[in-house]
Amino acid sequence: MLVAGNWKMNGLLNDAEHLAEKLASGNTQNRNTEVIIFPPFLHISAVARIVQKFDIKTGGQNCSVAESGANTGEISCEMLLDIGCSHVIVGHSERRSLHGETDALVAKKYAAALDVGLTPILCVGESLEQHNSGETEEVVVRQLSSVRETVGLGGLCSGIIAYEPLWSIGTGRAALPSKVQSVHETIRSCLGDEGAKTRIVYGGSLNSQNSAAMFAEKDIDGGLVGGASLQAEEFLRIIKMAERL
Ligand code: PGA
Repeated sequence: MLVAGNWKMNGLLNDAEHLAEKLASGNTQNRNTEVIIFPPFLHISAVARIVQKFDIKTGGQNCSVAESGANTGEISCEMLLDIGCSHVIVGHSERRSLHGETDALVAKKYAAALDVGLTPILCVGESLEQHNSGETEEVVVRQLSSVRETVGLGGLCSGIIAYEPLWSIGTGRAALPSKVQSVHETIRSCLGDEGAKTRIVYGGSLNSQNSAAMFAEKDIDGGLVGGASLQAEEFLRIIKMAERL
């Protein structure tokens, strides 16, 4: 199982260090559950120093497609690797909707991450409108195909897929585990035999109340947690749920 915490643009350095310390002291370092946190870029180094001894990995919430050079304000995959990151989130719906990231750009970011040896977590998911008109599978398959065309099936299978329906992110309205399972089955079928071991996690209003039922589904291999990852006790409870499976 995998439990990832996306801190988004929250907290100052002091808050990040406190949260990291609480997580470090509470994490049981269970070998069956991988824990990764995604602090804001500026806080990653400080957080990594605190948590790395406690078997908690760190990652970036975004990355540039470029390797280096004239890209004001961007952060390269190599820079993330250099400060101790092992993972990077690409194509989060907030990047897609607030920053105009297209399927093609997300695919390039996925490729850039693989090139340097970072594991990308590809976020896919449908809007409320697409959900209501029954387009969920179509949207998710399209988002996956774009990455597959760029990095090939092997490349796609070597990352992590996070299914995050937009209408459940930050709304307190998690999708039903059985429905998530069925979307994850569709995702798994797009990955073919090579994808049998690829981790497919769910994200969207996960908390300690709903994560056990979610994680119990066959093709749900963990969660990408937003709001609830900002409270150490709550995030640790979610990790415990995953460890039980
Ligand atoms: P949420 O966010 O848990 O606050 O809904 C999830 C995410 O955006 O990854």
